[in-house]
Amino acid sequence: MADFAPYRPHDHGRADAQVVIRAASDDDAATLADLESTVRHTTSSPDAMAAAIADPQRLVVVAVAGDEVVGWAKTHWWDWSFGPAEAGQYLGGLTVDPRWRRRGIASTLTGVRMSWIFRRAPCAWYVVNAQNLASIDLHRAWGFVEVVRAEKFHTVRFRGGVGLLLRADAPVEYGDPWRPSVDGDPF
Ligand SMILES: CC(C)(COP(=O)(O)OP(=O)(O)OC[C@H]1O[C@@H](n2cnc3c(N)ncnc32)[C@H](O)[C@@H]1OP(=O)(O)O)[C@@H](O)C(=O)NCCC(=O)NCCS
Repeated sequence: MADFAPYRPHDHGRADAQVVIRAASDDDAATLADLESTVRHTTSSPDAMAAAIADPQRLVVVAVAGDEVVGWAKTHWWDWSFGPAEAGQYLGGLTVDPRWRRRGIASTLTGVRMSWIFRRAPCAWYVVNAQNLASIDLHRAWGFVEVVRAEKFHTVRFRGGVGLLLRADAPVEYGDPWRPSVDGDPF
């Protein structure tokens, strides 16, 4: 079953003020594993989610409406290069509950991760299935540029056989991207 959103470039969403973005906590691990299995039909254990949440090299964020987690996203730090897919900070999983799509939730989840990455690294990396046009359109706002296409990057292999590796450089306002201080970082 396709886990990509149907591509609808002529629809446009509207932000939903009741949705709040916050850093994930250990208590969210089981909910996120459940969301992945329900929405994307992947098996992701609560333990693996908890490990990502606890990892200081990564950011895991959730979108919440009332008491309900309606979306989530994470970053991934690769400490080794896979050909042109250099070691660095990558956008990781990103899933929004289908009932809550086109309300700007993925945009906000991506914006906070991009800010977090740009405070720590000179660029952000993103890999995506070439068929996932909704995701590719979503990420255009951050100036991602395609680096190369391949059937696999690091441990990610793409259904259909083709994935894109994209890179976005930190805007100048982030200054020296390697500065260690992240004081005031809400995430
Ligand atoms: C892709 C996904 C995360 C988007 O979540 P979302 O909260 O609906 O996205 P947003 O409302 O923030 O959309 C922001 C922009 O992305 C683009 N976009 C999002 N969904 C789209 C779709 N189905 N078709 C075309 N463009 C889309 C649009 O440019 C949109 O802006 P607009 O609504 O003003 O036109 C969601 O559909 C999803 O969970 N898909 C399945 C998992 C997945 O593919 N994750 C990404 C893996 S790399």
